[in-house]
Amino acid sequence: METKVIKINSPADYPLLDPAAACLRSGGLAAIPTETVYGLAGNALDADASRKIYAAKGRPQDNPLIVHISDFYQWAPLVQEIPASALTLAKAYWPGPMTIILKKSALIPDATSGGLDTVAVRMPSDPIAREVITRSGVPLAAPSANTSGRPSPTRAEHVYEDLNGKIDYIVDGGPCAVGVESTVVTLVDGAPRILRPGGITPEMIRDVLGACEVDPAVYEQLKEGVKAASPGMKYRHYAPRARVTVLSGPLDAYVRCVNAHAQEEGVYALCFDREGAKLSVPYIEYGAQADSAAQAHQLFDALRELDERGARRVYARMPSGEGVGLAVYNRLMRAAAFEVIELEK
Ligand code: TXA
Ligand code: MG
Repeated sequence: METKVIKINSPADYPLLDPAAACLRSGGLAAIPTETVYGLAGNALDADASRKIYAAKGRPQDNPLIVHISDFYQWAPLVQEIPASALTLAKAYWPGPMTIILKKSALIPDATSGGLDTVAVRMPSDPIAREVITRSGVPLAAPSANTSGRPSPTRAEHVYEDLNGKIDYIVDGGPCAVGVESTVVTLVDGAPRILRPGGITPEMIRDVLGACEVDPAVYEQLKEGVKAASPGMKYRHYAPRARVTVLSGPLDAYVRCVNAHAQEEGVYALCFDREGAKLSVPYIEYGAQADSAAQAHQLFDALRELDERGARRVYARMPSGEGVGLAVYNRLMRAAAFEVIELEK
């Protein structure tokens, strides 16, 4: 299949989106930019389109897709009921990087919900994403537009690397603003619980709902035999090809440890801005230590670049875990399959 790239530079280019929107309406696939990461979109109400998404990504069929809408009126038909807490949350943070899980309506095919009786819905803030949804006239199922297991794409070039020849269109809207995927919060059991941290932090949810739990799978590897609340949590996501270890401790201990491993084959450091000069191994910097938003913006790009440069062994600096840093922490820990070394102070 030939994949056509549509470059959008300004709202004046929006009419160029029409062929991709028509293709989506009739069951085709298009990768689209969102404020978090690029998504691989298909008509969420069309089981065949969802099956094509799984095939193009090589994604396990039990890992449900997020359904994207561009207006509030599109939400109610997709779910059984919108509780007051969900409405409060959506009013506070939609459009934006937050996904809300509720019981699904009969409109959502099992192929879209991965066989679950719930559905995850999100209203993105990215104007191009919203334009594609509106022009296609259907809610769009869209997982991250990467090959399953690879780091999520934050630029159209990443999508092209993974999916060229497998989908109908790539809409190129430039780099994504946030850089990590949306916060996934479930309200299925009544009390809000974050299944995946993202741009909307636990504190922000507590601000409007009074409470918010964070699923243990965010912090640690699922134990053998434990059922994942979010099926995506059980897969080794976000992984570059290299083995990644996260080193926790002060900078001088990190520098000592990394330099002691300088002889290993394909060794790389993944550190914060202005730290690399102290190292005797090649490095990639992924934002200032105190700037979690910058780290979120750059992490996936950095993981892909490590692949490109042929890294085999990566020693990464531990992110803070505060605010959006919790999302950075979670993605990096999963890239490292939760391998952490606590350095001596
Ligand atoms: O920012 C994002 O959310 C991006 C952009 C494209 O919108 N999308 C994204 O989709 O990250 P994906 O498919 O890569 O991740 C969806 C996550 C998975 O971990 C999946 O298991 C979880 O959300 N999920 C989706 N529906 C669910 C449901 N009904 N119950 C529990 N978890 C669900
Ligand atoms: Mg993904």
